[in-house]
Parts: sequence; C-alpha cells; structure tokens
Amino acid sequence: MSKRLTRPRPSSLRHALNLEDYERLVRRRLPRSVFGYVEGGADDGEACRHNREVFRSIRMIPKVLVDVSTRTQETTLFGQTYSAPFLVAPMGASSIVGYDADNSMARAARAARIPFVLSANSITPIEEMARTYPGAWFAAYQSPDARKIEDMCLRVADAGLSLYMLTVDVPVASNRENNVRTGYTMPFRMSKRLGFDVLRHPRWALGTMLRTMRHRGLPRISNVDPIARPSIFSRNIGAVTGHAGFSWRHAEQIRRCWKGPFVLKGILSPGDARLAREIGADGIVVSNHGGRQLDSAVSPVDVLQAIRAEAGTMTVLADSGFRRGTDILKGLALGADGILIGRPFLFAAALGGERAVTQAISRLKTEIDIDMALLGVNMPEDITEDMILRSAF
Ligand SMILES: Cc1cc2nc3c(=O)[nH]c(=O)nc-3n(C[C@H](O)[C@H](O)[C@H](O)COP(=O)(O)O)c2cc1C
Repeated sequence: MSKRLTRPRPSSLRHALNLEDYERLVRRRLPRSVFGYVEGGADDGEACRHNREVFRSIRMIPKVLVDVSTRTQETTLFGQTYSAPFLVAPMGASSIVGYDADNSMARAARAARIPFVLSANSITPIEEMARTYPGAWFAAYQSPDARKIEDMCLRVADAGLSLYMLTVDVPVASNRENNVRTGYTMPFRMSKRLGFDVLRHPRWALGTMLRTMRHRGLPRISNVDPIARPSIFSRNIGAVTGHAGFSWRHAEQIRRCWKGPFVLKGILSPGDARLAREIGADGIVVSNHGGRQLDSAVSPVDVLQAIRAEAGTMTVLADSGFRRGTDILKGLALGADGILIGRPFLFAAALGGERAVTQAISRLKTEIDIDMALLGVNMPEDITEDMILRSAF
C-alpha cells in the first residue's frame, strides 16, 4: 500500500494552532458521512451550538501582581497525578475515522500523562488497550443482564484498565438526521451514495478503511459484551448501546462488583448527582454527550455549580464543547476537577495519527499555561468561582 496515502502529511500539522483547527484541516480528507458522524449532533444541532456559545457568556476576572513563576497544571484524579486538567473522552467507532485512532490517541495521552478513556463501542479490544496504555479508563455501554454486568466488570479488571465509567445518557439511540442525510449507518451498509463518498476520498479508503481490514480483518465492536464481538456490518449491533431498561439498580450492581473507581457519565441534574453519590459512585461526568443525545439539553456549564454543590466528595468531571484553555479554566472555576475533550482529538488522530494528537495535547497545555499566568494562578486548585462572571452576551 502506498506510504504516501497512509502517512500523515506533516505540512498540515503546522497549520493546526488550536483544537478547532484539526476539524477544519481534516474535513476534506474524510468522506462526508464519516466527518458528519463525528461532527454532528442530534436533531437540529442546537445542543452542539449551545455547548460552544455558552462559553461566550462567561468572562474572567484576573488577579494581578501574583508571582506565577511556579505554575503547574498537575491534576490528581482518583488518586493518580496527571500532567494537565483534561483528558481524552471515550469515542466509539474511532478507528473508522482515523487508522488505529484509539491506539494513536491512547499512546499520545499516555506519553503526555493524561487519561484516555476507551469506548465500549470501539473496535479496539479492552485487552489491546491495556497493553497500549496500562491503567487506561473504560467507558461502558452496558447490558442490564446481571450476568453480563458481572462478566464485564471481570473482563475490564482482568485486562488491567483502572476505571469503570458507565455512560448513562443513551437509553436509546438519538435522532441523528445528519447521518441519514450523508448515508452513515451503524451497522455499516454500503449504499450508492456512500460508495461515491468513499471513492472521492481514496486516501481515507486506502489509508483507513482498507488498512484497518488488512490488519484486523472485519472491524468488530469489541467491548459492548463480555464475549460477543459483532462485526460493524452485523445486524446485531443495532441495539448494542441503548438499553431502555437500564436503571439505577443496574448501576448499583456495577458499583458492587467493580472495586476500582466508578464514574457515571452523562449527568445533568443535581438530583442525579445526589443519586450517583448515594449509590457510591466515585465520580460523575457532567455531560450532554457533546450535543449528540437530547438536543434541548442544557450545557454542563449551565449546571456545573449546582451539581458541584450536590456532589459531596465525588470527583466532578465535565465535557461537551470545551476547546480553549480558557474553556477548561472556566469549567474548573465552576467546580469541575477535570475536563474531557472529544472531537478535536479524534479529528487530530484522523489528520496525523499519534503525532497530531500529541501536538493537539501540547497546544492545549500551552494555552492553559498562558491563561493561568494571565489569570494569576499557580495551580488548578487556585481557580475559584470569584474569577468568573456570567455576562448577558
Ligand atoms: C464520534 C463520537 C463518538 C462518541 N462515542 C461515545 C461513546 O462510545 N461513549 C460515550 O460515553 N461517549 C461517546 N461520545 C461522547 C464523548 O465521550 C464526549 O461526551 C463528547 O464528545 C464531548 O464533547 P466534545 O466532542 O464537544 O468535546 C462520542 C462522541 C463522538 C464525537
């Protein structure tokens, strides 16, 4: 296979100055359907837009004449110290977007000493990820079957992943009209439209799709079941993620059988944060799934303070629309302990593999470092509520 088609083009990385740039730079290189799968939200994309706009309504109040020469971004989450207050969010089907994208993102995250979360809905098996990044985190889409819950906990523990995150905001698949329009389906179905789309992107077809099949055979969704690995073409994967009957009682069962840190992802109400605390969760992710589930959902930024107040000693993480160093610092000021970032790292992986993700992480760290100095703080814990102001615009 031509190396020209499978290697990242270093020249394009020079143009990526911030997280949003990866999306812009990779757009034309991906089939419309694949790009749309990552970029899109539910219904009209309102939640996606709001996730970004909400940051404009929060301004920051710096402190001056503070000696900021000793600043550090080091952040301790669940007893582990990381180099920055952000991490790579779980993203399913990543390796359809960029070749071996889970491993690219995980290697970059490990080298940069930030957490990486593997999605259940991934074609990279948990056991392989444990070799790439021992102690990486796992995000489950979980069947409510009691036996499967137990076996999944055992599988993740045996492999050596360190944290069990349960995604709780997908009782059913959401309405993604953009996917219907572009022809993206899961299970994957080749249509005429998709065929043309793929043919117009030979670099992706050879460098991602065929290369993946050559190395792995038929891509299989590897982590939604303790044993079964349905192929992405299999009709059985229609219902792998959403389980309408899944409830707090099942989350409690996971809590009982998983001995390490247990985190619920997709909390948006103080009441649910309280329930998470009551069942013994160690943390929550305040998230609207990057605007990909309920299109009218609030942004985490709207509710973080109220949720923090109910969270007690739980670790509070947040995601959905965080892009700039200042976004992260605003999240911390509102009460988050760390921020997950999704799409930009996946777009970076698609643009230039591990090298591009490493660059993206480094760009964001640099922004945070500058912003911390300009705000007058030396460590994430120094960022307090009185350093932000909600404005009308
Ligand atoms: C392509 C894609 C796939 C995703 N798959 C999952 C998943 O399998 N499990 C999950 O909990 N969240 C999933 N998410 C949501 C992310 O974990 C995260 O909540 C969201 O992307 C954060 O918003 P951001 O992309 O604006 O940073 C996915 C997001 C994207 C973009």
